[in-house]
Amino acid sequence: MSQTSAPADPSAPSGRPDRFDLGGVAVRRLGFGAMRITGPGIWGEPRDRAECIRVLRRAVELGVELIDTADSYGPAVSEDLIREALHPYPERLVIATKAGLVRTGPDAWHPVGRPEYLRQECEMSLRRLGVDRIDLFQLHRIDPHVPREEQFGLLAALVDEGKVARVGLSEVTVEEIEAARAIVPVTSVQNLYNLSNRSSEAVLEHCEHEEIGFIPWFPIASGALGAAGSPAEAVAAELGATPAQVALAWLLRRSPVMLPIPGTSSVAHLEENWGALGIELDDRQFAALSDAG
Ligand SMILES: NC(=O)c1ccc[n+]([C@@H]2O[C@H](COP(=O)([O-])OP(=O)(O)OC[C@H]3O[C@@H](n4cnc5c(N)ncnc54)[C@H](OP(=O)(O)O)[C@@H]3O)[C@@H](O)[C@H]2O)c1
Repeated sequence: MSQTSAPADPSAPSGRPDRFDLGGVAVRRLGFGAMRITGPGIWGEPRDRAECIRVLRRAVELGVELIDTADSYGPAVSEDLIREALHPYPERLVIATKAGLVRTGPDAWHPVGRPEYLRQECEMSLRRLGVDRIDLFQLHRIDPHVPREEQFGLLAALVDEGKVARVGLSEVTVEEIEAARAIVPVTSVQNLYNLSNRSSEAVLEHCEHEEIGFIPWFPIASGALGAAGSPAEAVAAELGATPAQVALAWLLRRSPVMLPIPGTSSVAHLEENWGALGIELDDRQFAALSDAG
């Protein structure tokens, strides 16, 4: 995928990088999380399928260049919808999927990292997404019952075979990132992180130091940071913005390696969240939010 002539983001505040080099592809830093285009409990079909298709198409129209999904979202529902809505994919779009979790029902997730299973997931994601190579293949969880070297080794084999362009990890420690990097290059790390949950601060700092993309999941705390009582409310009122936009703008300012992927099943929320790109927090507002969160 060639990204040499990436258009500038006209709405980005001056001085804040609007793109991040994700393993040779310059993606706009605000992406889209496709977990919410499924049924309740991230299980089965979404309530309003047509709206979810509109969300995906509108995301790309707005300028989203990074869509995060997983075979386990639905399962299969999110990847199928992405293909239905967007295939053939725009040249600039990076689709990041994940493997390593099985589903036994709504809200039930279990790690399975046996190499033959991870390989099957890769093959099925290639088929469902309709691609020859997965742009970014993330290990959703390290399976504690399988030697981690076998899981990382399988990811390296998939890169060698050309089935996967880049590898990412999810919910990992700094030590685990480095154990993986001894076996396979790691382009991104996806950990829970937002204004009110910064338990992955050390991992974020490590990613920043090593220039690894950091994809914070639950960037608006599953909606809570956009709702009444959000710690972003006061600054949002000052700026004439919404709390969700301010929570995302705080993430974008927090680190140049930060790649938030807010999730939604509604075009209205998608458009609202995209507006975060145009919000500039001054030093005082950034500090106030950091304290409030
Ligand atoms: N690696 C992992 O283990 C992991 C775990 C969880 C998620 N993820 C990824 O991270 C992405 C983001 O996480 P997430 O979607 O769970 O959480 P999130 O982005 O923090 O919040 C999404 C939730 O907030 C609501 N919402 C969205 N925009 C809003 C707004 N402007 N105002 C108020 N509410 C709003 C959405 O409901 P509506 O649909 O009604 O808009 C949805 O329920 C996921 O889509 C997925 O790709 C990864």
